Amino acid sequence: MAADIAFIDLQTQRKRLGEPLNLAILRAVEGGQWIMGPQVAELERKLAAFAGVKHCIACANGTDALVIVLRAWGIGPGDAVFVPAFTFAATAEVVALVGATPVFVDVLADTYNMAPTSLETAIAMVRREGKLTPRVVIPVDLFGQPADYRTLEPVVKRAGLKMLCDTAQGFGAVLDGRRTGAIGDAATTSFFPAKPLGCFGDGGATFTDEDELADLLRSIRVHGQGSDKYENVRIGVNSRLDTIQAAILLEKLKIFPDEIEKRDAIARRYNAGLEQSNRIVVPRVIAGALSTWAQYTIQVPDRAKLQSDLKSKGIPTAVYYPIPLSLQKGYRHYASPPTPVSEAICTTVVSLPMHPYLEADAQDRIIEAVLTSVGAG
Ligand SMILES: Cc1ncc(COP(=O)(O)O)c(C=O)c1O
Repeated sequence: MAADIAFIDLQTQRKRLGEPLNLAILRAVEGGQWIMGPQVAELERKLAAFAGVKHCIACANGTDALVIVLRAWGIGPGDAVFVPAFTFAATAEVVALVGATPVFVDVLADTYNMAPTSLETAIAMVRREGKLTPRVVIPVDLFGQPADYRTLEPVVKRAGLKMLCDTAQGFGAVLDGRRTGAIGDAATTSFFPAKPLGCFGDGGATFTDEDELADLLRSIRVHGQGSDKYENVRIGVNSRLDTIQAAILLEKLKIFPDEIEKRDAIARRYNAGLEQSNRIVVPRVIAGALSTWAQYTIQVPDRAKLQSDLKSKGIPTAVYYPIPLSLQKGYRHYASPPTPVSEAICTTVVSLPMHPYLEADAQDRIIEAVLTSVGAG
C-alpha cells in the first residue's frame, strides 16, 4: 500500500529551511532576551513592509490579537459586533470576552466568506431592535481567501462602523493589489503552526495604519503600560511574542511568497482534477484575489463516505467546520438573522491535504480517490 499522505507537512518545510533556521533559533536562545527581544521588533518591521501597512504589533496568539484591538476601540457591554456564522470560534469568542454581543452574519455559498447582504440585514435588525449599538464588523478571510472587501467595505462605511479583518487564515492573500493585513481599520493574524505563516508554538499580530491606534495596541499588549514599564495607564493584557518564535517567523517569511505560489498552483491542480465531476463543488476564488489556501475545501453529497474511503487509502481529511457558530451551544442564545447557507455548508464541506510540498503523484492519488468515492472515477 502507498505511504500515508500528510494533511499539512511542516517537517518538509523545516528541512527546506535547514541550517539557517537552526542558527536563528540558537541565536535567539544565546541572545538571552527571550521575550520581546530584537527579533520581535525586526519581525514587526518586516511583516508591516510585507503587508504594506504602517504598523505591525506582534502578540501571543491570534485570539489575543482580536481582543487587543476590540479593547483599544473600547468595545464592551451594549455593543454589537458582526461576525460570520461560519468561522473558527475565536472570531466570536473575543466579542463575548470583551463583554460585547456577537451578531452572526451568513456567508456566501461559493466563497464561504461574509455575505454583504446578510451583513446589511444584521445591521438593520440590530438598529430596529434598539438594544445594542452596532460598532464593529469582523470579516474573516476564511480558508485563505480575502473576504469580498469590495462589497463589504462600502456597507461598513455607510453604517459608520469599524472593520477589523480577521486574517488568521489569510494573512498574505491579495485583493485588487492590496494584501490582507493592510485591509480594514485594523487586522489581526495568527501564527499557530498550521497557519500558512506559522511558528513553532503560539503567536499572533495586529496591523494598522493609524499611529494612535498602534500606540494603544502596544500599550494594551503589555498590561496597559505607559511610557515606563511600571507605569500602567489602562487595563491591558499579557500578550507578548517569544523571541524564538519571531526568529523562526523571520526565516519562514523569506520563503512565504514562494510558498503562497506553490499553494496556489496545488489548488489550481486540485480544481482542474476535481471539477470534472458535477458531484464535487470546488472552491472558487473571486476575480482579482489571490488566496493563501490555508485549507483546500470542497463540498460533496456524502461527506462521511468520502472521509472513510480516503482514510482507508491513507489520505487524511478534516471538516472545517461541522457546526455554524450561530447553532453552537455556547453561542446560540445570541439573536442573529437567519444563517441558512452556513448551516447547509457545514454538512457538506470537507478539506483535503494542502501544503506547499504536496507532490504531484500524491496529489494525483488524492484526486483519483475523491473521484472514485463520489462515483466519478
Ligand atoms: C479565523 C480565525 N480566527 C482566529 C484564530 C485564533 O488564532 P490563535 O489560535 O492563534 O489564537 C484562528 C486560528 O486558530 C482562526 O482560524
